[in-house]
Amino acid sequence: MQHDKIAVVDFGGQYAHLIATKVRRSRVLAEIRQPEDLIEEFASCKGVILSGSPALASFGEDSGWNKAILDLDVPILGFCFGHQEIAKHYGGTVINGKQEWGHADLHLLREHPLFAGLDKVEQVWMSHFDSVTGVGPDFEELGYSVLDEAAPPHRFAAIGSDKLRRYGFQFHPEVDDTVHGDDMIANFVLGICGCSPTWTMDNYVQEQIERIRAQVGDGSVFLLASGGVDSTVAARLFAEALGPQRLQLLHVDNGLMRKDESAQVVTLFSDLGLGENLHFIDAGETFLQALEGKIEPEAKRRAIGDTFITVFESEARRLGITDHLLGQGTIYPDTIETGGTKRADTIKTHHNRVPVIEEMIAAGRVIEPLADLYKVEVRELGEMLDIPHAMIRRHPFPGPGLGVRLLCSDGTVPDQDGLDKIGPAVAELAAAAGLEAMPLPIRSVGVKADLRSYEHPVLLHGDADFATLTRTAGRIFKSVAGLNRALWNLAPEPPRVLRPLAATMSRQRLDLLRECDHLVMEGLRRHGLYDRIWQCPTVLVPLEVDGRGRELCIIRPVLSERAMTATAAELPRPLLDDLRQEILTLPGISGLAYDLTSKPPGTIEWE
Ligand code: XMP
Repeated sequence: MQHDKIAVVDFGGQYAHLIATKVRRSRVLAEIRQPEDLIEEFASCKGVILSGSPALASFGEDSGWNKAILDLDVPILGFCFGHQEIAKHYGGTVINGKQEWGHADLHLLREHPLFAGLDKVEQVWMSHFDSVTGVGPDFEELGYSVLDEAAPPHRFAAIGSDKLRRYGFQFHPEVDDTVHGDDMIANFVLGICGCSPTWTMDNYVQEQIERIRAQVGDGSVFLLASGGVDSTVAARLFAEALGPQRLQLLHVDNGLMRKDESAQVVTLFSDLGLGENLHFIDAGETFLQALEGKIEPEAKRRAIGDTFITVFESEARRLGITDHLLGQGTIYPDTIETGGTKRADTIKTHHNRVPVIEEMIAAGRVIEPLADLYKVEVRELGEMLDIPHAMIRRHPFPGPGLGVRLLCSDGTVPDQDGLDKIGPAVAELAAAAGLEAMPLPIRSVGVKADLRSYEHPVLLHGDADFATLTRTAGRIFKSVAGLNRALWNLAPEPPRVLRPLAATMSRQRLDLLRECDHLVMEGLRRHGLYDRIWQCPTVLVPLEVDGRGRELCIIRPVLSERAMTATAAELPRPLLDDLRQEILTLPGISGLAYDLTSKPPGTIEWE
């Protein structure tokens, strides 16, 4: 059967692939195209969507794309960078400025088929440095956005020309935080482009099984099985496609797992009927040696990813497993965040995307049946493959494990000048909400307008409700550069000192983090919150704040649907009281803080 098709032009934004997923949710086939593709590649498409980009339209970055796309006689809709390029091309103006991060209200100026069935005010998600400040003669402003009631509205958040059938949104309808984004995409695809909804996911498993059989031929698959949702679903799919004899699983205890986790993984695989195929190795010492003295997040990530492969290859040799492909449960965000498409910026190198693995992929030695999916789809697939619900609902846990949650430091203050500049600005914004604020002399990784950042957090102190705290955080991100996270001090007193301490990865520090993480997970379960929260990393930072312990402990509960965006989750006060009681009294702990940061500008993990 021939399906109607939408082309999604991937300018390297973090969400280009997500746009394609959302189009498919409307049951219309979507295919990714590159901005320099020849016009013939678009021949059979009934519409085009231009994605966002890490490039700045205001400075003419990445402007050499094939503009003949705009001459196609089909409707075109641009998001963020795509929106700005459409505005510019048809005589509008784009400036560098008026940045917005996070939730904003879109106020619609009139009824329009793009917004059919929606309210006059819609919650949308923003992540941009550049803004459209004027449109050409054939265009009209369809809506403006308000991020902060106290500030003037942002004009031209939605623009369009019904005559030319060209439209643009400054916000991202493809992310789940744009509440009715799926409807907006469906209105474009089904309404404006007139596509028929004929594409379904029903045969997805069958297609994947056939693909695995074709790629593996007579060989076998040796799968790195962490016990997380992705590798477990991949294991089940491989077993389905190849039969259990041609699947071997390796669980590596890298010493960076949570409390008792490796033992639980072994039980899990025997419950799934795959126990006989599972090999287990305790490689904690090898990983610790590889991480020795490493401080910078990317250096730690690479060391962990490389060590996985060294351990894997030596185990394959030891077990005499030859003629195998390396199986991985890689999902789409792992690739995009590693800068794995042509234009995407490297936000963080995921453990399954280090250079050695990229070389193995190029040599055809890797098989990754989930590489096009997001976690929600992997979970759906897992349900179809009869994997127990409790397993499927487990919180995501990154491949490098606690390695990216245990920060290391050489004991010096990074970027003292930057800190001095930030201090007065954040203090003033926080004071407006009755809070104290101090930037911390440490850094963590974040993502802003599709670019990686490595910047300071700010610590807020004082009593306020959660909405006030997150609103204050949002105001700080909006107007102060050089910051990508806001924390709330859970200790009763403001910090007495703020001193980074020299610390590297060690078993003792990992054990302390394991204990803190265990207390947080138990607390979430006790309060019935585990399933409602997407993920809650616990992080240790070698920062003295009370002159007693050496480690600041941070809890990061987030709500998300696909991990591409996230908001801080509110935890009830009684749970916070429990955690204060349990964690602040652990020997070695210096303070406790609550991460209030949305993604962007922070990422979910700290490194
Ligand atoms: P960030 O921190 O980039 O994370 O917002 C998005 C999601 O990906 C998980 N994550 C990883 N998963 N290997 C993985 O398998 C990795 O290297 C990795 N790094 C981050 C993270 O926990 C979150 O769910």
